[in-house]
Amino acid sequence: MNSLATISRVRPLRATARPQSVLYFAMRTCSTGSSTWNRSSCLVPQRSSPVFYTAKRPISSTPQPQIKEYFPPPENPAVKEVDSAWAHPVYTEAQMQNVRVAHREARDWSDWVALGTVRFFRWGMDWITGYKHPGPGQQLPARFKMTEQKWLTRFVFLESVAGVPGMVGGMLRHLRSLRKMKRDNGWIETLLEEAFNERMHLLTFLKLAEPGWFMRLMVLGAQGVFFNGFFLAYLISPRICHRFVGYLEEEAVLTYTRAIKELESGHLPEWNQLEAPEIAVQYWKMPEDKRTMRDLLLYIRADEAKHREVNHTLSNLNQAIDPNPYQTKYQNPVRDHPSRGIENLKATGWERKEIFS
Ligand SMILES: [Fe+2]
Ligand SMILES: [Fe+2]
Repeated sequence: MNSLATISRVRPLRATARPQSVLYFAMRTCSTGSSTWNRSSCLVPQRSSPVFYTAKRPISSTPQPQIKEYFPPPENPAVKEVDSAWAHPVYTEAQMQNVRVAHREARDWSDWVALGTVRFFRWGMDWITGYKHPGPGQQLPARFKMTEQKWLTRFVFLESVAGVPGMVGGMLRHLRSLRKMKRDNGWIETLLEEAFNERMHLLTFLKLAEPGWFMRLMVLGAQGVFFNGFFLAYLISPRICHRFVGYLEEEAVLTYTRAIKELESGHLPEWNQLEAPEIAVQYWKMPEDKRTMRDLLLYIRADEAKHREVNHTLSNLNQAIDPNPYQTKYQNPVRDHPSRGIENLKATGWERKEIFS
């Protein structure tokens, strides 16, 4: 059960109003007087053990004095907690380990439009942020080294954008259903749930780092452009838009896979002992012994793989009449049908022949 009321009792320090760099980010750290990370004592301050938070800055190590509740619980004594309408399906370790980087080949001009747009966006984003993805066995120059801070910057920006398509698609299908006075056949819920899931990714990363004003400005600008662009594109061709999101999610899986590999190979030492924030533990129902930063990235990567499968699948369907296969109860329950979980993700990847024809 998700409880934003319970999980939001964290008082991170406010990031400075004067960022020192373009992609400024404040890493949240927690000190309990010992060097050991402890999620429960870190996130839920105890009276007996004074807890204080500091915002480490890339240039100045001076802690900021302002304290702000980042997304606080409702200030109402009658409210115990705020529940979520979308409970996240439970993933097992084996299922998450089975997630693979995969690519659906473009088959016609509309696929190439979607893929080309994603590749252009990726190139632009990488160029602006100075990111380079290493090829197999390739050693990149030191300036391309990804630190914990750089990864968090990237994750926050990308997740703030990733939450847009599901909301636009769900909203437009909702309005279409109202306008035409027809059923939607289950698409709206899946699309809105995807947007909700992406927002949970964002909120989770915001428990680990807080953006400065420049990053907020970038997010604002990107959302303004991307929302309107995707809105118009979805009006013209929802099929190409779902294909576009499918290819975008392929890139997301690639990015998280690289981050996980870097963590596992010891290149991100600050994350070795870092535990997942309480918001993540509750949302993904993370087992007690699976709450490290690595586990968190595995959960998020599995979500991205699911978005990849769902959007490529939706793109294959007749947008006007086909029911959403992820919300359908089938006459023959034995056959391997799409589901909300990732239990059907094959070791070879996400491609499901029966729904990708
Ligand atoms: Fe995401
Ligand atoms: Fe995603």
